[in-house]
Amino acid sequence: MRGEKAVIVDASEESITLAASMLKAGRIVGVPTETVYGLAADASNAEAVARVFAIKGRPAGLPLIVHLDVGASIAAWALDVPDDAFRLASRFWPGPLTLVLRRDPSVLTAVTGGLDTVALRMPAHPVAQRLLAVFGGGLAAPSANRFGRVSPTTAHDVFADLGGEVDLVVDGGPCEVGIESTIVAFDGGEVTILRAGATSPGEIAGVLGRQVRTVTGGLVESPVRAPGMLESHYAPDTPLELCAPHEAELRGAELTSSGLRFGMLSLGGVSAQGAAVVWDAGGDIAVLARSLYRWLREADVQALDLVVVALPPDEGLGVAIRDRLQRAARRSKSP
Ligand code: TXA
Ligand code: MG
Repeated sequence: MRGEKAVIVDASEESITLAASMLKAGRIVGVPTETVYGLAADASNAEAVARVFAIKGRPAGLPLIVHLDVGASIAAWALDVPDDAFRLASRFWPGPLTLVLRRDPSVLTAVTGGLDTVALRMPAHPVAQRLLAVFGGGLAAPSANRFGRVSPTTAHDVFADLGGEVDLVVDGGPCEVGIESTIVAFDGGEVTILRAGATSPGEIAGVLGRQVRTVTGGLVESPVRAPGMLESHYAPDTPLELCAPHEAELRGAELTSSGLRFGMLSLGGVSAQGAAVVWDAGGDIAVLARSLYRWLREADVQALDLVVVALPPDEGLGVAIRDRLQRAARRSKSP
C-alpha cells in the first residue's frame, strides 16, 4: 500500500485484525487513543519506527512513546521502576499519563532516540486497547500530525495530514480527552512533569502526597527531553493572540473596527460581537480540551486573519490547554 492513499477503516474486529497484521508486517497505522490519534509502528521493528519519523518529519533523537496493552508488564520495558511510578500507573493507567523510566536494554534505540529512558503509556481508548491485545506487543506512536503542527483528534484529521503516507487509519471516533498525555519523569527521588497534559498536576500530587515540579512555559532543558517542550509546537497556520477573558472582549471590539476577519475562542462567557467565527466551550474545561485542536484546524479552513483566544484559568486541564496555546501562538506571524 506504500505510496497509495491510506484507507480509513471502521473499528470493527475485522479492521482491528487487519491493522494488527499490517503492524506485524512493519506497516504504519493511524490509531485512536483517548487523547489524540497516534501514528503507530511495531516498537520492535527499527525500520517501521524509522518510517514513523520520516512520515512525521520528526527530527531523529526525539523519542516516541511506547503504548502498552493493559495486560503488559512494565518490567519487560523498564528497569528500576520507582514506587512512585507504580503508584501513578495503578491510579491512572489505562489513561492519559506517560511515565519516563529507565529503559530495558531490549528497547530499540530508534524508539528512545538513544536516551537511556523509555516513555510508556497504557491508553484507555477501547479500540487502542483491543488493537494492542490482538497485536500482542508494544506500539511506538507519536501524535499522528506533521512535526510541530496541530495534533489530530479524528481519523479524518490524520488522513488530511498524512493520508498519502500512512498505510491505514482506524476510525475510533473523535477523541474524548482531546489533548495529549501528561509526561512524568523520575530523577532520583524527584518526580517532574515534563509535559503538562490531560492528567493534572493536582491529581498527580494527590496520589504522591506531595507537590511535583512542572517544566513548562517554553523551557528547553535539552533538545531531547520532550519536543512538546520546544518553543513552537501544536501550531495552526492562523495567528493566535492570547489574552485574559476581559481583554478578549476589548480586543474583539478593536478588531471589528479594523475590518480583519477574526475568530473568538474561549472557555465561555466572552462576548464576541464582530467575530467571524465564535468557539465557546460553554464554561466546561473538558469541552475546551476536547474541542481545542478541532477549533484550531477550523481556523485554518476558514482562512481567518487571526484568532483571539481567552485563556482558561491555570488549574486542572487549564494548565495543559494554556501550555499548548502558548506554544501554538509562538509560531504566529502577525496578520
Ligand atoms: O497522548 C499522547 O501522549 C499521544 C498519544 C498518541 O499517546 N502521544 C504523543 O506523542 O503526544 P508525541 O510523540 O507527539 O509526544 C511524545 C512526547 C515527546 O515530547 C517526546 O519527546 C516525549 O514524549 N518522550 C518520549 N520519550 C521520552 C523520553 N525517554 N524522555 C523524555 N521524553 C520523552
Ligand atoms: Mg505530538
